[in-house]
Amino acid sequence: MTSQNARGGSNICLIGMAGSGKSTVGALLARRLEYAFVDLDEEIASQLGLSIGEIFERLGEDRFRQEEQRLLAQRCAGERQVIACGGGVVTTPANGNHLRQQTTIYLQATPKTLAQRVGAGSGRPLLTGMASIRRRLADLLKEREALYRGASQMAIGTDGRQPAALADELLQMLTLEPQASAP
Ligand code: S3P
Repeated sequence: MTSQNARGGSNICLIGMAGSGKSTVGALLARRLEYAFVDLDEEIASQLGLSIGEIFERLGEDRFRQEEQRLLAQRCAGERQVIACGGGVVTTPANGNHLRQQTTIYLQATPKTLAQRVGAGSGRPLLTGMASIRRRLADLLKEREALYRGASQMAIGTDGRQPAALADELLQMLTLEPQASAP
């Protein structure tokens, strides 16, 4: 499975809330597909030389979103990459256009599962310091659910599932995805 999809993109983008498993599953999937793996948050942090927490604190969320948008556009112009996006990538409308051209998969999970996976939310500025991380996740999910659905062509439930099993299932789903016909 190496060719472009019917929308012109040849990258796999993973979207979903913090704790949905995008980075872990994405790295496994990239290995199985022999694609490059890109963690957008890590890339933003390394380009700015700051952690995600420091970027929010010192430069502000707007600057983070600008960098996120710039890097997503840059990465989507490349090919054969599995791109794990940050949970809020869908909140910038222009990103939806890029995501819809790629093969974009929404990793779903309930707030209960997300809260178990993120723990105290350290390193995640939109979660840290909240009285109830689970409630905060539920609120964000409610705001974003339609955006995740609108930006993706496929969704997979991750509750109670192991990353390797999810990567295997995604691989199967991707082989069923219609590809552009050869020139
Ligand atoms: C965010 C999620 C984070 C990171 C930033 C903002 C969000 O990524 O991009 O802290 O808006 O939900 P993860 O989904 O990898 O935690």
